[in-house]
Amino acid sequence: MLTVLLTGGAGFLGSHLADGFLARGDRVIALDTGSQKKIRHLRRHPRFRLVVDSVMNPDILDVLAARADLVYHLAGIVGVEHYVGDPYEVLNVNVNGTQNVLRAALKHGRRVVFASTSEVYGKNPAVPWREDADRVLGPSTIDRWCYATSKAAGEHFCLAFRRLGLVVTILRYFNVYGPRLDQLDVGRVVTIFMGQLLRGAPLTVIGDGSQTRCFTYVQDAVAATIAAGVTAAAADQIINVGSDVETSIRELAERMIAIGGGPSTLRFVAQESVYGAGYEDVARRVPDVSRMTAILGTRAVTPLDDGLARTIGWFRRQRADGAPDDA
Ligand SMILES: NC(=O)c1ccc[n+]([C@@H]2O[C@H](COP(=O)([O-])OP(=O)(O)OC[C@H]3O[C@@H](n4cnc5c(N)ncnc54)[C@H](O)[C@@H]3O)[C@@H](O)[C@H]2O)c1
Repeated sequence: MLTVLLTGGAGFLGSHLADGFLARGDRVIALDTGSQKKIRHLRRHPRFRLVVDSVMNPDILDVLAARADLVYHLAGIVGVEHYVGDPYEVLNVNVNGTQNVLRAALKHGRRVVFASTSEVYGKNPAVPWREDADRVLGPSTIDRWCYATSKAAGEHFCLAFRRLGLVVTILRYFNVYGPRLDQLDVGRVVTIFMGQLLRGAPLTVIGDGSQTRCFTYVQDAVAATIAAGVTAAAADQIINVGSDVETSIRELAERMIAIGGGPSTLRFVAQESVYGAGYEDVARRVPDVSRMTAILGTRAVTPLDDGLARTIGWFRRQRADGAPDDA
């Protein structure tokens, strides 16, 4: 039985990863500053513990890393509204918090899995991206790049700590979605569309909707993430985690309407009207998944329609039960 420390363990990915480790019979310690709604089903679980504190606090990290066998660093400031609204917080938590986690893990000799992102590839047009692909980012005057920069800095810290003896795996996630994602109407595209869909309002597609993403169902991401922490060959590797099936944002909206039913239509809106002038979108975002398959032995097997149906069903049940949107 492992004791697994999950920073950001009360978040979307963290809560599902907690479920995954608990199902294996392991113990989970979640360290999180945020809402506890996504882990309320675990409150009384005998092998689950929540610590409400911050990765900005080295003392708590020291205590928890000493107790854990394995550390997953998922805590971070996520969501476009933060990249353009509070870049300081994004940079501070994602860079300095990561350094704190790595330092504590190194001190106690713990293996680390770091949650990085497909955003680090920026707008490199040469998809699919292998893990050694170039990072192509816009200027630092465009705030949206602060997230990609902060996560890339986190990766550099991981690699620097590796030289000091830390065993670390870097995972770059591609648009993971599923139940408990974000609050309706905020955060990522699936939850923004979801809020509109459940109200029967038009789904607001930014631009012409031809930009593509590879949507990865959360169970598939969790399988890869658990494997990354317990597979010897994953040590010291950078690995893309995601589906390599490309879907345009327009198609995503159309499929959500087809699966969810109701009167929603599509409404195309200018990018500036949503995120202001300080934003640049990425045209295509596609992983090369050969390392995930070869090293982690997992694949993103859930078809988009199935994952969307489960996700829409979950959000609909939450609403029907009168639970808060991000419950
Ligand atoms: N879901 C995805 O598609 C995706 C894609 C790329 C990367 N990631 C990365 O995976 C990780 C988890 O993402 P998620 O989708 O679960 O997002 P999330 O926002 O649901 O989870 C992040 C969690 O970190 C917590 N947190 C923020 N600041 C903290 C702090 N100072 N101390 C402790 N906890 C803090 C938040 O409260 C939240 O619960 C993030 O690091 C994110 O960058 C996710």
